[in-house]
Amino acid sequence: MIYITIKEKDYSKYFTPDYKKAKERNKDAIKIINYGLMPTDLKIGKGKKYFIETYGCQMNVHDSQTIAGILEQMGYKLANDYKEADLILLNTCAIRENAEDKVFGHLGYLKRFKLEKPELILGVCGCMSQEENVVFKLLENYPYVDLIFGTHNIHRLPYLLKEAIFSKEMVVEVWSKEGDIVENIPKVRTDKLKAWVNIMYGCDKFCTYCIVPYTRGKERSRRPADILQELEELAAKDYKEVTLLGQNVNAYGKDFSDISYRFKDLMKDIKKIPIPRIRFTTSHPKDFDDGLIEVLATGGNLVEHIHLPVQSGNTKILKLMGRKYTREDYLNLVTKIKKAIPNVAITTDIIVGFPQETDEQFEDTLSLVKEVNFDSSFTFIYSKRDGTPAAKMKDNIPLEIKKERLQRLNTLQAKISKEKNAKLVNKIVEVLVEGKSKKNSNVLTGRTRTNKIVNFVGSENLIGKLVNIVIKEAKSFTLEGEIVND
Ligand code: SAH
Ligand code: SF4
Ligand code: F3S
Repeated sequence: MIYITIKEKDYSKYFTPDYKKAKERNKDAIKIINYGLMPTDLKIGKGKKYFIETYGCQMNVHDSQTIAGILEQMGYKLANDYKEADLILLNTCAIRENAEDKVFGHLGYLKRFKLEKPELILGVCGCMSQEENVVFKLLENYPYVDLIFGTHNIHRLPYLLKEAIFSKEMVVEVWSKEGDIVENIPKVRTDKLKAWVNIMYGCDKFCTYCIVPYTRGKERSRRPADILQELEELAAKDYKEVTLLGQNVNAYGKDFSDISYRFKDLMKDIKKIPIPRIRFTTSHPKDFDDGLIEVLATGGNLVEHIHLPVQSGNTKILKLMGRKYTREDYLNLVTKIKKAIPNVAITTDIIVGFPQETDEQFEDTLSLVKEVNFDSSFTFIYSKRDGTPAAKMKDNIPLEIKKERLQRLNTLQAKISKEKNAKLVNKIVEVLVEGKSKKNSNVLTGRTRTNKIVNFVGSENLIGKLVNIVIKEAKSFTLEGEIVND
């Protein structure tokens, strides 16, 4: 076999991603595209079934609901498994190398279905499709993939799918421009209690380790009226909880040139909508202002849980990460939040083993974790992402040390989580009952306003309701309780 390198092969006919363009940010007004009606010649899914495999964050979960909405409008129905499917889409995540490895592994596994059923359409979308090296790798090594599209052109799916079905070649369309906002795309929401609502797209923070600003385009906020209308519709359908989504929700509204309306204003307006619980994720510490704290402190449906990624407890590492706050800034912010919202649960994200992180600098992270007393943390080993500034930094820390640091951090956090949860024993908490426990079908499971999981014995008809539970036992990751009969 002759080995052809990517450079020798001409891929110019494909619409592949371009990091240079993905990095650009300009002040052009955001275009709002109205999705509109589906032309009848695109309703080619009748009698066919789809299966979507979703990786990554809530943004992707939400995108998959949109993709499902488009497919169902085309006539497709949800398949129970791969075997039944005429279309399989992998909605991918690029945040860390292991997320990508999983997708490549899975593509290898799916090859057999393609061999058994050649008319099966296999597609890759999501953040990995926005990466230059990934798309070339797919073109080179995974020729049985039929379709690649990115995060900016989901609304083009019917056209791309039609092309993929009728053409013999791989269809690749990835836009690396900064992104528009597409409104009114149908969505399939399988969960009838909890919903995700995007309030903004993209990210302009460019933390040095992170791929998201390249895969998701520039920060752009949905118009308040569109968000509020979506929430009103969810309230009318009796949704009990909505999580507002954005990579950095505190930057909401910064891009409006005609109105002065920021995240705190949005929260004030959302507070009036009769949905019992409103959450948001994620908030960057840099833009978290006093006005927002004041609004959150008014409570009501604005729950007392804040996810506030810190990434590191050492100022020098934070600087290398491009986070634009110091350890002290973060601690001061936490103090202010705790003072204003007494029962607040604060959770975080932490990266260990960032290039050049010394043992002492890692100890600073441990001491910050103790000082803040996080309710829980998502912890990660630093993963090099091609094209980001950190990828050029010398990564001098052996994997063994990184793993050891992660282990120490997780042990500490588990201990703190358990201690914090223990304080809830004999207290009454409000729980939104989500369903039966996976481990024991006699047990129901739900979450507190602070997002802690509570298990208790109760009858099925409580699912979907808010009930009062007295906590009897605390573990690191769950609470056990009993219904309060009043
Ligand atoms: N926009 C969010 C984070 C989204 S990504 C925020 O800034 O708060 C979720 C988490 O993944 C990040 O908070 C970070 O902890 C982790 N992460 C991002 N890039 C990473 C990388 N290259 N290696 C390891 N972890 C990473
Ligand atoms: Fe990534 Fe930083 Fe943007 Fe979060 S704020 S998505 S970590 S660049
Ligand atoms: Fe992953 Fe993209 Fe989300 S990289 S974490 S799916 S924004």
